[in-house]
Amino acid sequence: MQTLTQVLKASTTPSALQDVLMTTTNTCIDICNALHKGSLAGILGVAGNENVQGEEQKKLDIISNDMLKTALLACPEVRAVASEEEDDIVPANTAGEYLIAFDPLDGSSNIDINAMVGTIFSIYHDTGSDAATEQSFLKPGTEQVAAGYVLYGPSCMLVLTTGQGVQMFTLDPEKNEFIQTQSKVEVPADTQEFAINMSNQRFWSAAMQTYVNDLVAGATGTREKDFNMRWVAAMVGDVHRILCRGGIFIYPWDSKSPNRAGKLRLMYEANPMAMLIEQSGGKAHTHSQRILDIQPEGIHQRVAVILGAANEVDKCLSY
Ligand code: AHG
Ligand code: MN
Ligand code: MN
Ligand code: MN
Repeated sequence: MQTLTQVLKASTTPSALQDVLMTTTNTCIDICNALHKGSLAGILGVAGNENVQGEEQKKLDIISNDMLKTALLACPEVRAVASEEEDDIVPANTAGEYLIAFDPLDGSSNIDINAMVGTIFSIYHDTGSDAATEQSFLKPGTEQVAAGYVLYGPSCMLVLTTGQGVQMFTLDPEKNEFIQTQSKVEVPADTQEFAINMSNQRFWSAAMQTYVNDLVAGATGTREKDFNMRWVAAMVGDVHRILCRGGIFIYPWDSKSPNRAGKLRLMYEANPMAMLIEQSGGKAHTHSQRILDIQPEGIHQRVAVILGAANEVDKCLSY
């Protein structure tokens, strides 16, 4: 059994990127420990502010954001950070060569019911003699050099790619270290399981409504097979299920979201998850294009997300 440190040391990952990954994942271990204290530490509930996304912030959104920001800004290899919970990018060390975009706590609505949440991160290489700006972050997802998430579930897991497949690690809480528990993750091309928030059905495109109706129709419908549905309400949990046993996850555009763009954020959610899914043999698209090819227009941009089993994503897009 190899530790994360050993796996990274044995890889071709540049040592500066290894430092950034260790800083990020060690901070996630601290977030995990804070989460485990729950009510005892007085960290549940709402903070009373709204973030730049127009969402009510939970105390833990702010605590996890502050923990990651503080740790990453102190890491000499970090050039700047961007976060779901920060209005603007935060420059760190101009000589640093890495930009990190993160969703410090994904699945905020699960916090108070003691259900799955996670931290999602996306890393880019970037250099320059001036401090990084928002423009520095506006690179398509194909340029990510690493992406991953830490899932705070019944066990704490790190799922990571540096562009050579996807590996899973499980936290050993006694040693406070991630241990590699799966070296090559593969998403099967076909599935009979889907994840979508059905309560939004009337706001979707007609084509998306027809596609989901056909899934629900099951063996007697045009798809000629029964489908099961699951919804964790934290993308990190739904994507983790897909990486473990396959499936399709959809957060489509809908007519009630701003600019009809859907809910999920390109830089903090869609791009890192798209890299993990593609690195596992799956596909990740909006209604019209590959997510990793999108040229971002702003750090908080939202996109529709259709990801998972390759043949099922193609089937959905065919509608
Ligand atoms: P966040 O907690 O970081 O704001 O993200 C929540 C997102 C995502 O994790 C999840 O897939 C989705 O919101 C759940 O949305 P519903 O409220 O439609 O269930
Ligand atoms: Mn949020
Ligand atoms: Mn999120
Ligand atoms: Mn979040």
